Amino acid sequence: MGGNPDNSRLDGKVVVVTGAGQGIGRATALELARAGAAVVVNDLDADAAHAVCDTIRANSGQAHAVIAAIGTDGAAEACVSAAVDHFGRLDGLFANAGVLRDSVLWKTEDDAFDLVIATHLRGTFQCARAAVRQFRAQGGGGSLIYAASPAGQSGNFGQGAYAAAKAGIVGMMRSHALELARDKVTVNAVVPTALTRMTATIPALAAHVAALERGEPLPENLRAKHGIGTAQDIAPLVVFLASGAARGITGQCIGIGGDRLSLWTHPAEVRIATQSGGWHVEHLTEQWPDFSEGAIQPLGVPLAFD
Ligand SMILES: NC(=O)c1ccc[n+]([C@@H]2O[C@H](COP(=O)([O-])OP(=O)(O)OC[C@H]3O[C@@H](n4cnc5c(N)ncnc54)[C@H](O)[C@@H]3O)[C@@H](O)[C@H]2O)c1
Repeated sequence: MGGNPDNSRLDGKVVVVTGAGQGIGRATALELARAGAAVVVNDLDADAAHAVCDTIRANSGQAHAVIAAIGTDGAAEACVSAAVDHFGRLDGLFANAGVLRDSVLWKTEDDAFDLVIATHLRGTFQCARAAVRQFRAQGGGGSLIYAASPAGQSGNFGQGAYAAAKAGIVGMMRSHALELARDKVTVNAVVPTALTRMTATIPALAAHVAALERGEPLPENLRAKHGIGTAQDIAPLVVFLASGAARGITGQCIGIGGDRLSLWTHPAEVRIATQSGGWHVEHLTEQWPDFSEGAIQPLGVPLAFD
């Protein structure tokens, strides 16, 4: 049974998008405004955030820029206060701001690790907390949408800190969904795949980002088979999750990119055995081959896009 398309309008709603100066955040802010929402456009790049607001206003939408580094103290509260001060309320948050500092474990400096964790994990936590305090004060629920990543789901070479942050965000999302069910606040994670400045740093995708920026069409198999397209391809899922059409959808990890939509499993045991009295190392040594046969889990994000 299909849903009512009118439910996906966001007229009268107010949504914060962090990291909305470019890429997925920018595309989503524009789409939210097109759907009728007033948008708080956060970024640490002031020119980029103001340009997005100008574009929204030029199309008769409502927007307000908040220039702040998500993950630093006060940034989340500044975004929520701007929503309330300028538009009177808050209905949704897309916690999208993100950075990469890729390096293998043995070369990763503390500063790089801390920046990645602070921006993604601490930033998402602080923004969600500030938003939820406002939702609870208003009553009537709200929508939290977190940005996860295939790297956090499967691991990715050179992305230990980033994968930890993104896996942490998904773990946090499941817990928040449980905590907030009574308040009618939905909490979901989006696993996007899109050609942006961020993915231009991935060697296998750099040429596709360059081609897209030259205005060339993307290969069909990239969109359909690998689920890699434009930042604009991500935006409708965020609009949907912020809308009445997604009321009751919570605790889910949803992949989107190019022509693909997917629903991720939550980690679950794939095989269970019992040993009366507990497992000694001799039992493990003897039984591991049979126990694990056919159940060893694959690792890593696919990085071949032919
Ligand atoms: N592009 C993809 O395929 C992909 C895949 C998985 C996850 N993601 C996630 O989606 C989100 C957006 O990615 P993107 O590809 O659009 O990246 P992007 O680099 O194009 O855009 C990120 C934006 O966030 C801003 N930003 C960075 N740190 C910030 C901070 N502390 N406070 C406020 N703004 C900050 C940047 O200035 C930029 O405008 C990120 O969380 C990223 O990890 C993207």
